[in-house]
Amino acid sequence: MIIILLGYMGSGKSTLGKELATVLNYNFLDLDDYISEKENSSISNLFKTKGEIYFRKKETEYLKQIIDNSNNYVLSLGGGTPCYSENMALINNSANVVSFYLKLAIPLLSERLFTAKEQRPLISHITSKEDMIEFIGKHLFERIPYYSKAKYTINTDNKSLKEVLESIL
Ligand code: S3P
Repeated sequence: MIIILLGYMGSGKSTLGKELATVLNYNFLDLDDYISEKENSSISNLFKTKGEIYFRKKETEYLKQIIDNSNNYVLSLGGGTPCYSENMALINNSANVVSFYLKLAIPLLSERLFTAKEQRPLISHITSKEDMIEFIGKHLFERIPYYSKAKYTINTDNKSLKEVLESIL
Protein backbone atom coordinates (compact mmCIF):
# COMPACT_ATOMS: atom_id res chain seq x y z
CA MET A 1 0.00 0.00 0.00
CA ILE A 2 1.23 3.49 -0.83
CA ILE A 3 -0.27 6.38 1.10
CA ILE A 4 0.17 9.60 -0.85
CA LEU A 5 0.06 13.04 0.75
CA LEU A 6 -0.46 15.94 -1.63
CA GLY A 7 -1.20 19.65 -1.42
CA TYR A 8 0.32 23.07 -1.88
CA MET A 9 3.90 23.93 -0.89
CA GLY A 10 4.04 24.42 2.88
CA SER A 11 0.92 22.37 3.64
CA GLY A 12 2.86 19.96 5.87
CA LYS A 13 3.14 16.97 3.54
CA SER A 14 6.65 15.96 4.59
CA THR A 15 6.32 16.68 8.32
CA LEU A 16 3.09 14.75 8.50
CA GLY A 17 4.30 12.02 6.16
CA LYS A 18 7.24 11.20 8.44
CA GLU A 19 4.96 10.96 11.49
CA LEU A 20 2.41 8.83 9.66
CA ALA A 21 5.10 6.46 8.40
CA THR A 22 6.45 6.04 11.94
CA VAL A 23 3.00 5.28 13.36
CA LEU A 24 2.19 2.77 10.61
CA ASN A 25 5.68 1.31 10.49
CA TYR A 26 5.86 2.14 6.77
CA ASN A 27 8.84 3.54 4.89
CA PHE A 28 8.75 7.26 4.22
CA LEU A 29 9.61 8.84 0.88
CA ASP A 30 9.59 12.47 -0.15
CA LEU A 31 9.35 12.71 -3.93
CA ASP A 32 11.53 15.86 -4.08
CA ASP A 33 14.25 14.16 -2.00
CA TYR A 34 14.03 11.10 -4.22
CA ILE A 35 14.43 13.25 -7.35
CA SER A 36 17.35 15.17 -5.78
CA GLU A 37 19.11 11.96 -4.92
CA LYS A 38 18.57 10.31 -8.32
CA GLU A 39 19.51 13.44 -10.24
CA ASN A 40 22.33 14.32 -7.87
CA SER A 41 21.12 17.91 -7.59
CA SER A 42 18.98 20.10 -5.35
CA ILE A 43 15.53 20.95 -6.74
CA SER A 44 16.49 24.64 -7.07
CA ASN A 45 19.60 23.71 -8.99
CA LEU A 46 17.65 21.35 -11.23
CA PHE A 47 15.21 24.15 -12.13
CA LYS A 48 18.16 26.48 -12.78
CA THR A 49 20.32 24.16 -14.86
CA LYS A 50 17.79 21.92 -16.67
CA GLY A 51 14.55 23.92 -16.43
CA GLU A 52 11.08 23.19 -15.07
CA ILE A 53 10.00 20.99 -18.02
CA TYR A 54 12.88 18.60 -17.35
CA PHE A 55 11.96 18.58 -13.64
CA ARG A 56 8.30 17.75 -14.43
CA LYS A 57 9.33 14.85 -16.71
CA LYS A 58 11.55 13.40 -14.00
CA GLU A 59 8.84 13.95 -11.37
CA THR A 60 6.42 11.76 -13.36
CA GLU A 61 9.09 9.17 -14.16
CA TYR A 62 10.07 8.73 -10.50
CA LEU A 63 6.46 8.78 -9.29
CA LYS A 64 5.75 5.84 -11.64
CA GLN A 65 8.86 4.07 -10.40
CA ILE A 66 7.76 4.38 -6.76
CA ILE A 67 4.16 3.33 -7.45
CA ASP A 68 5.36 0.27 -9.37
CA ASN A 69 7.34 -0.82 -6.34
CA SER A 70 4.74 -2.62 -4.24
CA ASN A 71 6.25 -1.97 -0.76
CA ASN A 72 4.47 -0.12 2.02
CA TYR A 73 5.25 3.57 1.72
CA VAL A 74 4.04 6.95 2.85
CA LEU A 75 4.91 9.23 -0.07
CA SER A 76 4.84 13.03 0.08
CA LEU A 77 4.52 14.62 -3.36
CA GLY A 78 5.82 18.00 -4.48
CA GLY A 79 3.20 20.75 -4.56
CA GLY A 80 2.98 20.63 -8.36
CA THR A 81 3.08 16.85 -8.87
CA PRO A 82 -0.71 16.36 -9.09
CA CYS A 83 -1.02 19.08 -11.75
CA TYR A 84 1.16 17.63 -14.53
CA SER A 85 1.26 14.70 -16.97
CA GLU A 86 -1.93 12.94 -15.86
CA ASN A 87 -0.22 12.15 -12.55
CA MET A 88 -3.56 12.13 -10.71
CA ALA A 89 -4.94 9.57 -13.18
CA LEU A 90 -1.90 7.42 -12.52
CA ILE A 91 -2.48 7.73 -8.77
CA ASN A 92 -6.22 7.11 -8.93
CA ASN A 93 -5.91 4.15 -11.28
CA SER A 94 -3.38 2.36 -9.10
CA ALA A 95 -5.07 -0.22 -6.89
CA ASN A 96 -2.32 -0.05 -4.24
CA VAL A 97 -2.52 3.74 -3.71
CA VAL A 98 -4.67 5.93 -1.47
CA SER A 99 -4.32 9.73 -1.61
CA PHE A 100 -4.96 12.56 0.84
CA TYR A 101 -5.11 16.27 0.01
CA LEU A 102 -3.85 18.36 2.94
CA LYS A 103 -5.82 21.57 2.66
CA LEU A 104 -4.62 24.74 4.39
CA ALA A 105 -5.92 28.34 4.17
CA ILE A 106 -3.96 30.88 2.08
CA PRO A 107 -2.88 33.19 4.98
CA LEU A 108 -1.46 30.19 6.87
CA LEU A 109 0.35 28.90 3.78
CA SER A 110 1.71 32.36 3.15
CA GLU A 111 3.03 32.74 6.70
CA ARG A 112 4.85 29.42 6.48
CA LEU A 113 6.21 29.93 2.99
CA PHE A 114 7.48 33.47 3.42
CA THR A 115 10.23 32.22 5.71
CA ALA A 116 10.82 29.02 3.70
CA LYS A 117 10.86 30.30 0.14
CA GLU A 118 14.58 30.23 -0.68
CA GLN A 119 14.73 26.55 -1.61
CA ARG A 120 11.48 26.78 -3.59
CA PRO A 121 12.21 28.09 -7.09
CA LEU A 122 8.60 29.03 -7.91
CA ILE A 123 8.29 31.49 -5.02
CA SER A 124 11.86 32.48 -4.14
CA HIS A 125 11.51 35.78 -6.08
CA ILE A 126 8.58 37.04 -3.94
CA THR A 127 9.68 39.86 -1.63
CA SER A 128 6.60 40.90 0.37
CA LYS A 129 3.93 39.05 2.33
CA GLU A 130 1.20 40.81 0.31
CA ASP A 131 2.71 39.54 -2.94
CA MET A 132 3.03 36.07 -1.44
CA ILE A 133 -0.68 36.01 -0.55
CA GLU A 134 -1.62 37.21 -4.05
CA PHE A 135 0.62 34.66 -5.76
CA ILE A 136 -0.64 31.74 -3.67
CA GLY A 137 -4.25 32.79 -4.21
CA LYS A 138 -3.92 32.67 -8.01
CA HIS A 139 -1.74 29.58 -8.02
CA LEU A 140 -4.05 27.61 -5.72
CA PHE A 141 -7.05 28.57 -7.84
CA GLU A 142 -5.36 26.81 -10.79
CA ARG A 143 -4.30 23.82 -8.72
CA ILE A 144 -7.37 23.04 -6.61
CA PRO A 145 -9.10 21.11 -9.44
CA TYR A 146 -6.14 18.69 -9.43
CA TYR A 147 -5.77 18.48 -5.65
CA SER A 148 -9.49 17.77 -5.35
CA LYS A 149 -9.03 14.54 -7.27
CA ALA A 150 -7.40 13.02 -4.18
CA LYS A 151 -9.51 10.31 -2.57
CA TYR A 152 -9.75 12.22 0.73
CA THR A 153 -9.46 15.91 1.59
CA ILE A 154 -8.23 16.74 5.09
CA ASN A 155 -8.80 20.28 6.32
CA THR A 156 -5.76 21.10 8.44
CA ASP A 157 -6.56 24.72 9.40
CA ASN A 158 -5.75 25.30 13.08
CA LYS A 159 -5.29 21.60 13.70
CA SER A 160 -2.33 20.10 15.52
CA LEU A 161 -0.15 17.52 13.86
CA LYS A 162 -1.69 14.90 16.14
CA GLU A 163 -5.23 15.85 15.12
CA VAL A 164 -4.39 15.70 11.40
CA LEU A 165 -2.69 12.37 11.91
CA GLU A 166 -5.79 11.02 13.65
CA SER A 167 -8.05 12.21 10.80
CA ILE A 168 -5.90 10.34 8.30
CA LEU A 169 -5.71 7.19 10.39
C1 S3P B 1 6.74 22.71 -6.38
C2 S3P B 1 6.81 22.31 -5.06
C3 S3P B 1 8.04 21.84 -4.42
C4 S3P B 1 8.99 21.25 -5.46
C5 S3P B 1 9.22 22.22 -6.57
C6 S3P B 1 7.93 22.63 -7.29
C7 S3P B 1 5.46 23.17 -6.93
O1 S3P B 1 7.73 20.85 -3.44
O2 S3P B 1 8.49 20.04 -5.98
O3 S3P B 1 9.85 23.34 -6.03
O4 S3P B 1 5.31 23.20 -8.17
O5 S3P B 1 4.55 23.50 -6.12
P1 S3P B 1 7.08 21.19 -1.97
O6 S3P B 1 5.59 21.20 -2.13
O7 S3P B 1 7.54 20.05 -1.12
O8 S3P B 1 7.64 22.50 -1.54
